[in-house]
Amino acid sequence: MGSAPPPPAAEAPATDPLAGQAVDFVRQFHRERPGGGDPAPRVRQVLAEIERTGTYEHTAEELAFGARLAWRNAARCIGRLYWRSLVVRDRRGVDSPDELAAECFDHLRAATNGGRIRPVITVFAPDRPGRPGPRIVNQQLVRYAGHTTPEGALVGDPAGAGLTALARESGWKGGEERFEVLPLMVRRRPEEEPHWFEVPEDAVLEVELSHPEHAWFAELGLRWYAVPAISDMTLEIGGIRYPAAPFNGWYMGTEIGARNLADADRYHQLPEVARRLGLDTSSERTLWRDRALVELNVAVLHSFQEAGVTIADHHTESERFLRHIAQEERLGRPTPADWSWIVPPVSGGLTPVYHRYYDPVDPDLRPAFLPRVPDAPS
Ligand code: ARG
Repeated sequence: MGSAPPPPAAEAPATDPLAGQAVDFVRQFHRERPGGGDPAPRVRQVLAEIERTGTYEHTAEELAFGARLAWRNAARCIGRLYWRSLVVRDRRGVDSPDELAAECFDHLRAATNGGRIRPVITVFAPDRPGRPGPRIVNQQLVRYAGHTTPEGALVGDPAGAGLTALARESGWKGGEERFEVLPLMVRRRPEEEPHWFEVPEDAVLEVELSHPEHAWFAELGLRWYAVPAISDMTLEIGGIRYPAAPFNGWYMGTEIGARNLADADRYHQLPEVARRLGLDTSSERTLWRDRALVELNVAVLHSFQEAGVTIADHHTESERFLRHIAQEERLGRPTPADWSWIVPPVSGGLTPVYHRYYDPVDPDLRPAFLPRVPDAPS
């Protein structure tokens, strides 16, 4: 070869935005992973693959690392201390809706783990040029149905109303009960009709709520599921988008006790809890809402604990998050965080996460979990 060697591919101008993102990711992968190594050969390989096919395939290790990084980068998540422990299920080869649903149910079983909740992500096929990946229509793998009766009464979880309506249009017959798990709805391609699958009972662990001091609390008939598994976000790694990549952690009690069961546009339980507690609800100044809210949150933590299901209280999870920030700082990395999401919805000022600012959130930070691009009604 008489001519000068071509410039290393890593330095090639990234005219294709995918190429640029791919190179950034491969370099970060090699920089951070134990044993490091020279990224150049893999960079060249990826660029050649993009040139040839318009996309590229992550190795299993890249996928696992990318998914964990997406968690580490999630500015709204207080639970990031354990980002390295995320269990990554590589299911990119799954194509049929039946198989995809079965894998989601296995995800729930693996995450539930008899109550010792494990953080898990299942990654299905990415979007490729001319060949979009599958979509899960549900916001979470497990969520309760909800609807408004013709008389205007709310039944179930209003947050599940959209999916309830869609499922019924597709022939699902349920949705009448207060805590009824919605079917899993899957589109093989964004434009295709959704298929629905009833979530098998053995894949859903639920906890019935009781209170350590108030026996009447159990009569409220409240319950919640054990595994919060977000299924409507796109995982983006090195420019590749995985539109179906459900992931879960464990609950922090306030998500259930101070939002899902308390918000006026969710289960709206504070007036009933206050009434049972015998509180004076004639004036806001009695703080009956606040007092009812605390007891509801006590019940959530108590019940999960009694049932042997992992749950965190907001004091402990706040302290863990500050430990996470300190640990990242020692490694020379910032921890972007969104204060308004990190501070718990009760007793904010009692937790250490309230009393400080955070590294700014960069919307271009990758890998990331991105809100679903609206390609389909949900
Ligand atoms: N806040 C949502 C819910 O109550 C779940 C969000 C994710 N939460 C988590 N602990 N990983 O269902």
